Amino acid sequence: MAQAAHSFPDAFLWGTATSGYQVEGNSRNADYWDWEQQPGAVAEGHRSGLACDWWGGRWAEDFDRAAADGHTALRLSVEWSRVEPTPAQWDEDALDHYRQMAAGLRARGLTPLVTLHHFASPRWLAERRGWEAGEVVALFERYARKVTAALGAHVNLWCTLNEPNVFTFRSWAEGVLPPRKKDIGLALRVAANVLRAHAAAYRAIHSLQPEAMVGLPIHLRPTLPAHAGFAPDVWAARAQFNFFSALFTDAIATGRLRRIVGPALAVPEAKGTQDYIALQYYTTDLVRFDLTNPGELFGRRAFPPGAEVDDAGFYASYPEGFFQALRWAHRYRLPIYVTENGIGGEGEAGDALRRRYLLTHVRQLWRAVNFNWDVRGYFHWSLVDNFEWERGWTHRFGLYALDRDTQARTARPSAQLYSAIARGRALTTNLVAQYAPQLVPAMFPG
Ligand code: BGC
Repeated sequence: MAQAAHSFPDAFLWGTATSGYQVEGNSRNADYWDWEQQPGAVAEGHRSGLACDWWGGRWAEDFDRAAADGHTALRLSVEWSRVEPTPAQWDEDALDHYRQMAAGLRARGLTPLVTLHHFASPRWLAERRGWEAGEVVALFERYARKVTAALGAHVNLWCTLNEPNVFTFRSWAEGVLPPRKKDIGLALRVAANVLRAHAAAYRAIHSLQPEAMVGLPIHLRPTLPAHAGFAPDVWAARAQFNFFSALFTDAIATGRLRRIVGPALAVPEAKGTQDYIALQYYTTDLVRFDLTNPGELFGRRAFPPGAEVDDAGFYASYPEGFFQALRWAHRYRLPIYVTENGIGGEGEAGDALRRRYLLTHVRQLWRAVNFNWDVRGYFHWSLVDNFEWERGWTHRFGLYALDRDTQARTARPSAQLYSAIARGRALTTNLVAQYAPQLVPAMFPG
């Protein structure tokens, strides 16, 4: 067998991504805590409970794992509801906890990437109409300032709000996540508040830390028309892409937030407020025009034919879409970090899919790096199985499996694979032969 290696630059960051609510446990002051208790909110009545017990201190052993596996970075998020459990009352112990975590990453040679908001918000904010009310902009800015001051000695790579497109769509249009509303008009107003809050936080971070790198992570979902020659499919695929995937990044590039009806909304303060593109890619949609689905802009989504789908039917493995996503990100001529990418799966079959996914997606990443696109790091979602929102514990994304009764972690073979990629800074024929032999002919022909 011919030996080949797809190599990455030495400075390229290899990490995993996590979020506070999903790993810390007992986030009792968050709006999501109340949502979890509602009947039918979470699959099988699951609760986040102790989650991965990071708040109880198990972050240290997980950071040890990441470092031992040769990772060089880790993304975590700060829970606003811990830092500011009641308005303007700061919990200094909570801030100190996060400071220790950030310092703990540095001490292990891991570069911290810190997100200020990953879906969950303080209960008190939700009780004041949360992201629907304009006051959130100033409140988020104040919080961003506080966290930057507390963690700035250890952190200079930041994300403001995780996936503003998923956050607004799933919570205000699809109505799955709190506050579970289905109102497109309201969703667009929330989107404007989120964009303004991001812009205010961007400036707050930079006022304290001029050298900071600040991004807004977008869940980028390329769309393919079901029939490339059929104009309504092409239109629906493009509309879904423009209003879901590209909405926020375009608004930052132009200072104008597109609206479904009427002229774009001027948000001049958002223009230029990101230092890198934070790209989150999981899957690609095949879209066909469907008059009966106005809620999704007359598009009906399916997975591309032939793509392998995970156990939960939630994501399909479509590596070409990752390359398209990277090409889209490259258009903005900013550095790129892939701040999430991964697939769910348990047991040998689920992890075999994860290994194939990892190998084929890292291959697309390498293509982008090889074109000299400025891609600087990759964060796999996720390090350890964590609380997967409305899918509870039924859908598991960890390189490490979590036993929720004992809190024991077990490395899946994909953890070893990712470790080998990170250590070698390369994807090699040998790794493919060892972890997914059936892929060798396609990935390394000849
Ligand atoms: C979110 C994560 C989530 C992951 C897997 C992403 O869209 O940022 O919080 O766990 O998808 O579903």
